[in-house]
Amino acid sequence: MKEVIFQSKQFKVAHSDYSPRLLEVVFTKEVVQDFLKEVEQYPVQSLEYKSFLRFRVAEILNRLCDNKLQNILQSTLTNREQGALLINPEGIDDVSQGDEMVKIATAFVHLVGRSNFDDMTGKFYARWAVVNTDNSDSYLRQPQKPLELHNDGTYVNQVTDYVLMYKIDEQNMKGGDSQLLHLDDWEDLDKYFNHHLARRVMKWSAPPSKNVTEDSYHPVFETDNDGRPVMLYIDQFAQPKDYEEGTWLADLGDSLENSNKKLSFPVPVGQFLLINNLFWLHGRDKFERHEKLRRELMRQRGYFSFATNPFKSYHHLARSNRS
Ligand SMILES: [Fe+2]
Repeated sequence: MKEVIFQSKQFKVAHSDYSPRLLEVVFTKEVVQDFLKEVEQYPVQSLEYKSFLRFRVAEILNRLCDNKLQNILQSTLTNREQGALLINPEGIDDVSQGDEMVKIATAFVHLVGRSNFDDMTGKFYARWAVVNTDNSDSYLRQPQKPLELHNDGTYVNQVTDYVLMYKIDEQNMKGGDSQLLHLDDWEDLDKYFNHHLARRVMKWSAPPSKNVTEDSYHPVFETDNDGRPVMLYIDQFAQPKDYEEGTWLADLGDSLENSNKKLSFPVPVGQFLLINNLFWLHGRDKFERHEKLRRELMRQRGYFSFATNPFKSYHHLARSNRS
């Protein structure tokens, strides 16, 4: 870790060695244990059934951090120069603590917004395993295929400002690094953002496992309040209507994957990434084949809810939130 930018009894924030845009946040075992003790009264099922309890656990975490955490999360996630956190709650790093990880993740994101209903699981979060053999209908669960750089929320009619990705378990893993690309680091951003297809409304639809039957329509690029590009793109679910759209999207996908600015690093078990989904793209590298390979992940994605939201104009698109 490089330069420390904040330190308290409970947690420390520093620039990551992987990129100055990525901040690493480490929470002490003590504060993590204090938090889990206080939220013992709220089993994960109660967080699923009563959505306001998600905000209660967020409040508890912030209080245990002397009310310093919420501001840091809000300002980092909306700071265009940063917008990405790798968070390490120390001492919780075994798959048997999966429920605790759901509680920790829930507390973090409900300090900045609210997680959307996840159609894949019918809950506000999704947990799923990747094993050696898979016959699913997307690359999410396919270990030997890379998951190429993309934004989340591209095929649902829900605003998706943030994405949280938690590593719950990993057995017999080689490869599979997390990959990130900040939009402003992408060498070809201007070329694609200024192209006449950049703001053309295109069709996006998901395969059956996503449980989303309605198609979504939006352009690949939008702008934030300051006119800076934000992106809503995924290779697998774009449905170009003709040759022109198809070849442009294929070129764009190649350009993203070939960027020299792509970050690639492992997220250890028990840690999670929390990123601004509008100006960061994410993906993961392929794994090496292993019969006993197992990896379990959790995600939460949702919208920012605080008053200083710089993406207000983006929210005015005809996209609504449910759940
Ligand atoms: Fe994703």
